Amino acid sequence: MRKILVTYAHPEHPPSRVNRALRQGAQALLASRGLEVTWHDLYRKYPDFMIRIGQEQALLQAHEVLVFQHPLFWYSVPALLKHWIDEVLTEGWAYGGKSRALAGKTWVHWLTAGGSASAYSRDEANGFGIQHLLRPLERTALLCDCRWLPPQVTHASLTLTDEDLAAEGQRYGQWLARLVAAEDGDG
Ligand SMILES: Cc1cc2nc3c(=O)[nH]c(=O)nc-3n(C[C@H](O)[C@H](O)[C@H](O)COP(=O)(O)O)c2cc1C
Repeated sequence: MRKILVTYAHPEHPPSRVNRALRQGAQALLASRGLEVTWHDLYRKYPDFMIRIGQEQALLQAHEVLVFQHPLFWYSVPALLKHWIDEVLTEGWAYGGKSRALAGKTWVHWLTAGGSASAYSRDEANGFGIQHLLRPLERTALLCDCRWLPPQVTHASLTLTDEDLAAEGQRYGQWLARLVAAEDGDG
């Protein structure tokens, strides 16, 4: 069993429909299998953006797999998650010199995007795939000597029916369960 930390970043302005449903669906599936992951709601913990760096670093060190769940905002992460990266991954701790506190940990995103899967291809409206848009995050993970897994995406998030959302919650939960069980989880 691997220790999984899900850092959840949604500002709730407007309130989440999709990420909330994914999280609830996944939590129900994991509970039904007796599996545990740590859920860490960044906006709930730091509504004032005043991040407690030492606490965050200790939490990261206590887990082997770092999952980041969030909506895609302007082809990137929500503001608090970017701020968290800037604050928590400090030089001399996460990178620089000989220190690599996160070395060997897995880093992976599960994100929701308003755009469809086909909209995120070279020839379509967005011009780039999600994996290309997340290159700065991939570089960040690799600079910290983490293992980067391909991002997982819930596409066309704004048009999903309740049934679609339930299915996505199951898919997310099964994917997390595979990560807990130390299977790759990147399929
Ligand atoms: C500020 C903002 C920026 C967004 N930027 C993007 C974007 O770059 N690409 C995209 O596909 N969807 C974008 N969206 C749509 C969100 O990804 C979508 O609202 C979200 O996945 C829905 O999940 P939720 O119900 O949990 O909020 C954006 C939405 C907001 C509010």
